[in-house]
Amino acid sequence: MIAKLHKWAAALVGLQMLIWAGTGLYFNLVDHQRIGGQQYRQSVPAEPGLGPELMDPAALLAAHAPVVRLTLVNLAGQPHYRLEHQRTLYPRQPQSMTLVDAVSGTVTEIDGMHAIALARASYRGPGTPLRPVQLAPYSAELPKEGNPLWRVAFDDDLSTVVFVDAASGRVVAHQNRHSREAAWMLKLHFMDYLGQGGFNHPLMWLFALMSLWLAGTGLVWVGRNLAQGAYRWPWHRPQSLTLIGPKGTQRVRLGRGQTLLDAMTAQGLAVRSECGGGGVCGRCRVQLSESTPIHGAERAHLSPRHLAAGWRLACQQQGERDSAPRVTEGHAP
Ligand code: FES
Repeated sequence: MIAKLHKWAAALVGLQMLIWAGTGLYFNLVDHQRIGGQQYRQSVPAEPGLGPELMDPAALLAAHAPVVRLTLVNLAGQPHYRLEHQRTLYPRQPQSMTLVDAVSGTVTEIDGMHAIALARASYRGPGTPLRPVQLAPYSAELPKEGNPLWRVAFDDDLSTVVFVDAASGRVVAHQNRHSREAAWMLKLHFMDYLGQGGFNHPLMWLFALMSLWLAGTGLVWVGRNLAQGAYRWPWHRPQSLTLIGPKGTQRVRLGRGQTLLDAMTAQGLAVRSECGGGGVCGRCRVQLSESTPIHGAERAHLSPRHLAAGWRLACQQQGERDSAPRVTEGHAP
């Protein structure tokens, strides 16, 4: 059972390691300017330039209390006061804020038309904006954004999409087909298969624990195989084995890397085989000393009782240790 679990866990971890190697290579070789998604982005001044007289914000503070921070911002050329009602560490965290036109004093809601104007102001490509779509927080495209977003797509050659924060009017991100390709690679690299937007998630913890467990069981396995002499070392000398079969006693020389099946066949001792030594048919049964190492194919073909009695497959044995096999052709279990 543990061996089976070890095998499947190793297959899963091995597959993920291949993915890590492939995606790691991708990020090493790819042009990072290209995958940034900023090809058609232009910077927008954060503060408005000189223009009409701005209203005194003191009245706003009283009208929209509580206000923990007031910022004058430029929203597509229109000066606005951004009134934050609670302090957050990052702009991506859910915000409670009010936008007020700094000239007229009216509250501004970021609707689809505003979103297009803000997206356009940050865009310098050849495309025109398509119909904007509103996204709920933590969408698949920007899983870390905790505020509603407007998604404004442009019909350009790179399929650019601009995301605008529907609460603050902030242009959150530009994406295009190159950055989306890189985002997929990052998803694979971070094992972010559930779209959590990072690598610190339960699946990653599970794989880390699985790798630790694999290392532990692997070490135990290696130790057990060493103790059983299951490894074949190049410096082992050829062995000579005594066979006791229906035709009497005979010594068989085993060359380096030669199986008992091959050695017996070469010396005219018939052993049944239907798979030519592939460990598949289970026919080439011989009885050896009980301590003879057991190989995987033998576990598959022989019962625990017969294994304990020393029965093995001649095609799997290479006679590294002293043993006196008794070949009982015709009486194999
Ligand atoms: S020859 Fe078929 S299992 Fe050994």
